[in-house]
Amino acid sequence: MSEAVRRAEYLEALGIDDWVLRSAHPCAATVPVAPEPGPVEPTGPVVSAPPQPAGEAGVPEAWEQLRAQVRACTACALHETRTQAVFGVGNRRAEWMVIGEAPGAEEDRRGEPFVGHAGQLLDAMLRAIGLSRETNVYIANILKSRPPGNRDPRPEEVAACLPYLHRQIALVRPKLLLAVGRIAAQTLLGTDAPLGRLRGRAHAFGEHNVPLVVTYHPAYLLRSPGEKRKAWEDLQFARNLFAQIRNPEPNDGHRS
Ligand code: URA
Repeated sequence: MSEAVRRAEYLEALGIDDWVLRSAHPCAATVPVAPEPGPVEPTGPVVSAPPQPAGEAGVPEAWEQLRAQVRACTACALHETRTQAVFGVGNRRAEWMVIGEAPGAEEDRRGEPFVGHAGQLLDAMLRAIGLSRETNVYIANILKSRPPGNRDPRPEEVAACLPYLHRQIALVRPKLLLAVGRIAAQTLLGTDAPLGRLRGRAHAFGEHNVPLVVTYHPAYLLRSPGEKRKAWEDLQFARNLFAQIRNPEPNDGHRS
C-alpha cells in the first residue's frame, strides 16, 4: 500500500479530513508538502535532560517509583486543587513522545493525559501519521496537576514539575519529541520565542540532543480550525524527520 493511500485511509477513517481538508478528498493532491527536514541543530538555550540510563524503559520498578512520587507530590500549590495527578500514558518504549501543557478538567477527573476534546483531536492527528497511545507513542505533560480554570502554568509550578517529565523522557528514551503548544515548546526549549517561529524545524532537546518538533496545541486548533493545515504540515515534517533518523542517508563514499 502506498504512503498516500495509507495516509488517506487514516485521514478518512478518523475524520481527519474534517480537521484538515474540508474542501477536498484526502486523496486529492492538496495536502501541503512539508519541507524536507534539515540537520538537527541545537537551538539554545536548551533545557538539560538528566543522563539517560541505558535500558530502563523496561524496568517496572523505576516507573512505579516515579508514578508514586508524582501521585504523592505536594511540591506546588496545585496539589491542593487537583483531583489527582496525571502521570502519562502510552508505550514506555515508544520511539515518539508527545508533550503537552497540563491536564484539563477531564484529564484531572480521569487521570490520563489528553482525554477531553483536545485529546480526541490529538489522537486523530497522531493516527494520521501512524501513531497511537495504545501502541507506539508515549504522552505526558509539562505539569502533572491541573491549573484551576485551565490558566497558564506558573513558573514555580513548571520548575517544581519539570524534573518528573525529564525523568519520563530519560526512561522512555524517545527518538523524537513532539511538543504540542506554546507552553510545552517554550519550556522544553528554554525560549520565549513565539510558537510560529519554533515550527518547521528540528530542534534538539537536552544533553542527548533528542530531535524535537513543535506544532500547535489541539485545543488551539479547535478554536482556530484555519490553522489545521499548518499542523498537518508539522506532522508531516515530524514524520519525515523520524524517517531520516531511522534510516539515515547512506554515506556516498566521498570524504570531505
Ligand atoms: N491539554 C494538555 O496540554 N494536556 C492534556 O493532558 C490535556 C489538555
